[in-house]
Amino acid sequence: MTNPATTFASRELYINCEDLFKIYKIANLEVVALRGLDLKVRQGEFMAIVGASGSGKSTLLNILAGLDTPSAGRAFVGGRDLLTMSDRDMVDYRRNQVGFVWQQTGRNLVPYLDVLQNVEVPMILNSTDAGEARRRALELLEAVRLSHRLHHRPQQLSGGEQQRVSIAVALANNPPLLLADEPTGELDSLAADLIYEVFVDLNRKFGVTVVIVTHDPEIASRVDRVVAIRDGRTSTEIYRRVEFEAGHPTVHHDEYALIDAAGRLQIPREFLDRLKIHDRARIQMSEGAVEVLPSDRRGEGG
Ligand SMILES: Nc1ncnc2c1ncn2[C@@H]1O[C@H](COP(=O)(O)OP(=O)(O)OP(=O)(O)O)[C@@H](O)[C@H]1O
Ligand SMILES: [Mg+2]
Repeated sequence: MTNPATTFASRELYINCEDLFKIYKIANLEVVALRGLDLKVRQGEFMAIVGASGSGKSTLLNILAGLDTPSAGRAFVGGRDLLTMSDRDMVDYRRNQVGFVWQQTGRNLVPYLDVLQNVEVPMILNSTDAGEARRRALELLEAVRLSHRLHHRPQQLSGGEQQRVSIAVALANNPPLLLADEPTGELDSLAADLIYEVFVDLNRKFGVTVVIVTHDPEIASRVDRVVAIRDGRTSTEIYRRVEFEAGHPTVHHDEYALIDAAGRLQIPREFLDRLKIHDRARIQMSEGAVEVLPSDRRGEGG
C-alpha cells in the first residue's frame, strides 16, 4: 500500500500557515496562544491535531474557521488570505468555505427544529432553492447514517446522533473544509467510532478536507496524519503507514520532529530532563546524525 506521506505530497496545499501568531490581550496581560506556528494541509487530507490543554489547538481551529483573526504571520486557506480578508469576504468564507463542529453538541443545533430542518437552515439562509435544500439534506443525513431520525428534535437524540446531525449541518453548503474541535469529547467509544467512520466516508465521498482536534489516544490509527502542537507551535508529526506482511495488513506509525524555516525544532521535554539539558546544549555532526549533548555551562542568569 502507498504511504500517505507520498500520496499527499503530490496534492495541492489547501491550508498553509507560516509563522502564525495569536496574542490575546486581557487588561494589561498578553497571552501568546500561537507562537510561530507552521501547518500545511493538502487538499482531501484527513488529519488530526493533538496537544496538551492550553497548547493552542482551539485557537488555531477558530482562526482557520474565520471565527478569530491571527495577530501576525501568514494563513491561507484555499488560496484565501485570512489576515487581509475583508469582513464581507469573511462572512462568505464562514458560510461557504468551511464547516465547523463544536465539542458541545448543544451548540451546533437549533433545539426546536427537527433533524431535517436543522440541516436545511444553512442552505435556506444561503438562498438555496427549497427542493435542492431538501435533496442535499437527505443525502447528507444518509451519509451520516441518520435517515431513520429525520423528524426527531435534538433533545430526542443520543449525543452521538446529535454530533452526526452537526456534521451534516456543517457540510450543508458544501464547504471544501470541515473543522471539528473535539467532536467526540462528550461521547463513549462506540459513538466515537461511528463519528470517525462518518468522517472517513465524507472525506472519501465528497473529497472534503477534514481537520479534527482531539484528545483521543487512538487517533493515529484513524487518520492519515497527526500533528502535535506544543506551546503554540507544531512540534511533531505522525504518519500512518500500512504494509502487507505475510499477506496481512500491518499498521505502522512513523513519527517525525518538525523543523521550521529557521531550522528550529522542539526537543521533547522528557528527553531534555533525562539528559539534564537546561538552557543550552552542544550540537555536533556525527555519521549521518546531528547530536544534541548536555553542556556543563549554564546561562548567565541560570
Ligand atoms: N479568548 C481568549 N482570551 C484570552 N486568552 C485565551 C483566549 N482563548 C484562549 N486563550 C488562551 O490561549 C491559550 C491556548 O488556548 P486554546 O483554547 O487554544 O487551547 P487548547 O489547546 O484548545 O486547550 P484545550 O485542550 O483545553 O481545549 C491558553 O493559554 C488560553 O488560556
Ligand atoms: Mg480547545
